[in-house]
Amino acid sequence: MKNKRATELEYLRWFVRNADFGPADGDIRDMMRERFEQMIDSDVRLTQQAELGEALDFAGAPKFDLDPCAARELRKQLGLPPIADVEWDIEDDGLSRDWFGRVFVNPPFSDIMPWVEKAEREIKRDSVSTITFLVPANRTEQPWFQRVQDLQWDMRFLPKRRSFIYPDGSVKKSPPFGVVLLGVAE
Ligand SMILES: C[S@@+](CC[C@H](N)C(=O)[O-])C[C@H]1O[C@@H](n2cnc3c(N)ncnc32)[C@H](O)[C@@H]1O
Repeated sequence: MKNKRATELEYLRWFVRNADFGPADGDIRDMMRERFEQMIDSDVRLTQQAELGEALDFAGAPKFDLDPCAARELRKQLGLPPIADVEWDIEDDGLSRDWFGRVFVNPPFSDIMPWVEKAEREIKRDSVSTITFLVPANRTEQPWFQRVQDLQWDMRFLPKRRSFIYPDGSVKKSPPFGVVLLGVAE
C-alpha cells in the first residue's frame, strides 16, 4: 500500500478527537485544539456570486449538484444562497463520501491535495459528470498543482484579484494572489 503522510491538519484533527493524556496534559491539548480551530477557521472562505457564475460558465453547467466541502450552515446564517443542491459540511466529511453530478470544490486552502486525489478517483465513477475547482493560482510549484498539470485538467486563470467572504460575514481586502478554475469531465 502507498505510504501516505498525514497532513498537519489530519494529525491535529486526530489528536483533538482521540488523545486523552489526562489532566496533566490539559494545557497541551488546549493549545492543539486552539491551533486546530485556527486552521479550520482560516480555511473558511466563502465563494461570492461572481466567482460562482464564472465557475458555472467554465463548467458549462446551469447549476452545481454537489459541494462536498461546503459551509452550508454558515452561508445560511449569512443569508448567502447555496452553492449546490447538496452541500456537505466538515462534519459530513465530503472526502469520505461518494460524489455525484456536477461538483463544485472550493477546498480548504491549507490542504488541497486530498481534494485533488479524491476528484481524480471520483471522476472515474459514472455518477460524476464534471468537477470544477476554485483554487489559489500562486502555488503552481506545489505537488497538488503539479498533479493537476500532469492529469491535464482544464484551467482558466481568472483576471484580477478575487475576494472571499470571511466567517464573520465581512469581505476583506482581496488576497495577494489570483485564483484559477480547474475542470475535469468524465
Ligand atoms: C474555502 S471554504 C469553501 C466553502 C464553500 N464551498 C464556498 O465556496 O462558499 C472550504 C470549506 O470546506 C470545509 N471543509 C473542510 N474539510 C472538509 C471535509 N472533510 N468535508 C467537508 N467540508 C470540509 C470547511 O469547513 C470550509 O467551510
